Amino acid sequence: MTIQETATVLWNHSINTEYAHIGLACGAGYADARPGQFVTLRLPDRSTPLLRRPFSIHRKISANNETTGIEILYKIVGSFTRTLSLAKEGDRIDLLGPLGHGFSISEQHRKISLVAGGIGIAPLVFLYDALKESGVSFSESAVFIGGRTQTDILCKSVFSSSNIKQFITTEDGSEGEAGMLTAPLSRWLKSHRPDMIYACGSMPMLKAVIAIARLEHVFCEVSVETMMACGIGACLGCAIQTNMDSEKYRHVCVDGPVFNAEELIEG
Ligand SMILES: Cc1cc2nc3c(=O)[nH]c(=O)nc-3n(C[C@H](O)[C@H](O)[C@H](O)COP(=O)(O)OP(=O)(O)OC[C@H]3O[C@@H](n4cnc5c(N)ncnc54)[C@H](O)[C@@H]3O)c2cc1C
Ligand code: FES
Repeated sequence: MTIQETATVLWNHSINTEYAHIGLACGAGYADARPGQFVTLRLPDRSTPLLRRPFSIHRKISANNETTGIEILYKIVGSFTRTLSLAKEGDRIDLLGPLGHGFSISEQHRKISLVAGGIGIAPLVFLYDALKESGVSFSESAVFIGGRTQTDILCKSVFSSSNIKQFITTEDGSEGEAGMLTAPLSRWLKSHRPDMIYACGSMPMLKAVIAIARLEHVFCEVSVETMMACGIGACLGCAIQTNMDSEKYRHVCVDGPVFNAEELIEG
């Protein structure tokens, strides 16, 4: 159930010059939150920015087997995220969520490829935790983390809690293989066909991943980021074009942000 509430900041730490993560204590509404779902935030007592801002749930925070909060991983890009980076322990933040549809987790999908471009890693860590809980061993799975430069490569250590194979790429070659993450993804798929590819990142990256998944006939779900005004299906600001004759446009905030790649327009 979606709840609007005032959350309390538990911590807010920078990771590097561009990224930070914040812990928010909130009500029990997040116990059933699914990986890929998101929240919208507003800073109380501030008239700007006017619109709430969407962020993926990065992880759940638990105590004594109960969900007591959520963690958000964010990139500082503009006025909201700059102000968010200044929030201190005990500050209040207006939180609305959980929103949207998340990734599907199925007994049939045990060989997994996780594909994250930049801040697209945020929901995939929650997904990785949930897949682990569901019994995925990761012995035949891989995670692909790509970015423009070393600063964009986040959460590597999370994945060392299993034997998932890690591939890192940066466009400038400052960490891992130089180039795009689609290169190691294509190579991996030739020898280790996954049951499912889960991807999150920029639209060009997602289109490239969808094209590879189609070529290799692998199921693929992607989490799409668009600009969002209302986040609840009221403004039509987040429309995305689909392949389906029955429904040419869908709304990322209520129909997504996670879509079956087959539904989306070719890259
Ligand atoms: C479903 C969803 C989940 C998201 N999850 C995360 C997350 O986990 N962590 C995170 O850091 N960000 C996430 N975002 C993006 C985040 O909402 C924006 O970065 C944030 O709203 C920027 O606000 P701002 O006021 O700081 O920047 P603004 O001043 O609003 O924008 C600064 C720059 O970023 C661009 N921008 C803003 N929003 C987006 C967007 N949605 N897509 C592409 N470019 C954008 C603007 O065009 C502008 O160039 C998500 C977006 C969506 C739709
Ligand atoms: S953001 Fe308003 S309809 Fe999706």
